[in-house]
Amino acid sequence: MSTQRNKKTIYQCQACGFASPKWVGRCPDCGQWNTMVEEQSLGRKLTRPSEKAAPLSEIKAETGGRLSTRIAELDRVLGGGIVRGSVVLVGGDPGIGKSTLLLQAAARLGRPVLYVSAEESPEQIKIRAERLGINADNISVLAEICLENILTETRTVQPGAVIVDSIQTIYTEELNSAPGSVGQVRDSAAKLMHFAKSTGIPVFIVGHVTKEGMIAGPRVLEHIVDTVLYFEGQRSHSFRLLRTVKNRFGSTNEIGVFEMTDAGLEEIENPSELFLAERPINVSGSIVASSMEGTRPILIELQALVSPSTFSVPRRSALGIDLQRVNLILAVLEKIEGLHLPTMDIFINVVGGLKLAEPALDLAVAAAAVSSLRDRPIQPHMVVFGEIGLSGEVRAVNQAEARLKEAAKIGLKQAVIPRLNKEKLKEPVKGLQITGVKNIREALEALGI
Ligand code: TYD
Ligand code: MG
Repeated sequence: MSTQRNKKTIYQCQACGFASPKWVGRCPDCGQWNTMVEEQSLGRKLTRPSEKAAPLSEIKAETGGRLSTRIAELDRVLGGGIVRGSVVLVGGDPGIGKSTLLLQAAARLGRPVLYVSAEESPEQIKIRAERLGINADNISVLAEICLENILTETRTVQPGAVIVDSIQTIYTEELNSAPGSVGQVRDSAAKLMHFAKSTGIPVFIVGHVTKEGMIAGPRVLEHIVDTVLYFEGQRSHSFRLLRTVKNRFGSTNEIGVFEMTDAGLEEIENPSELFLAERPINVSGSIVASSMEGTRPILIELQALVSPSTFSVPRRSALGIDLQRVNLILAVLEKIEGLHLPTMDIFINVVGGLKLAEPALDLAVAAAAVSSLRDRPIQPHMVVFGEIGLSGEVRAVNQAEARLKEAAKIGLKQAVIPRLNKEKLKEPVKGLQITGVKNIREALEALGI
């Protein structure tokens, strides 16, 4: 494809990507100061021959033939393996384990993989590989930061997959701006995308999530690439979540769960067990809730601490769950149950550092708060889920059967769920005694709190 560039200069905000024809001190879009940087205009005249339209019925879709990474949790978030010619962005905080994950995947792929290391030396990669017990001769390491050179070498090597680590440290010769700027990051990704599509070689791009600052984060790439995975977790916890936020070849919101150990990332096949491992028994304010992460039900422990406040404005905080939603549930409890909460400090915590956003957790939030307030523990083998409406009704949620089966699988014995969900169950869930409730009052009664 031959392109003709016009060399007009534009200025682009390094924080949000806003483009302006003239320099301004403050970005009109995101309002930050001194973020506008000169970039060459991306305006180009295409002179390539136009494509012919074809009837949809005659187009052959190559959906089969996915390449397995032999890491089941990674395959899951990819939608069942790597698609030929796809570009996958793996984003995450620095130090979370992106390079480790991709090196482990490369070793297991069973095909030649070109690992382009633009921020670490080949020796550093070697040290990591030794730590991971990897001695695979299918991996070649290329320490190169110029995109054009990377593509030339890749064409020569013809690997089964390429890993570019990271997008913020490579640059394309076509732009004058520094590596890591919005223009560089975006243009490099677009070129890698074109490369992948024209050769069929899948490309993994590592992107560091950056604090709002001078370096362009993975968000500016989300609309360019095929699949976006975010690697999440907390430094203080050893487990890591790999989350699909976009996938042209599969469903989104899938998660893969790993634990970072001394010898790299280990897959966690049964996350519910991990998240409930240290749950205290017969302690008020703790309850097991069920959250759907993509197609996967996960059981987690939710905790509430409700205690009289010494401040004139009591504190309310929520970790791992939306505070607005929590406030709404507390307001319903006050109004419908007549609980006196305005003088209480209220803390809600999703154990394990998970971040969840599902209305199905409402009932668990309400139950944990009431359990703590009244100092009445909830049965240890109990799971609850259900959405709470403003008049205190408990509404049905999706995937009730999958949630209940997961609960039974890890040995829970009782469930309090929306009545409609119970009525719609096709068959009883073995080992689980299920109570259907239609409002908060019935739920609290069934929970004995
Ligand atoms: P890394 O993959 O380098 O992170 P990223 O590429 O996302 O910046 O992982 C860095 C962290 O992981 C580092 O703090 C060390 C830790 N780690 C382990 O705990 N075990 C291991 O086997 C490896 C390779 C790294
Ligand atoms: Mg890295």
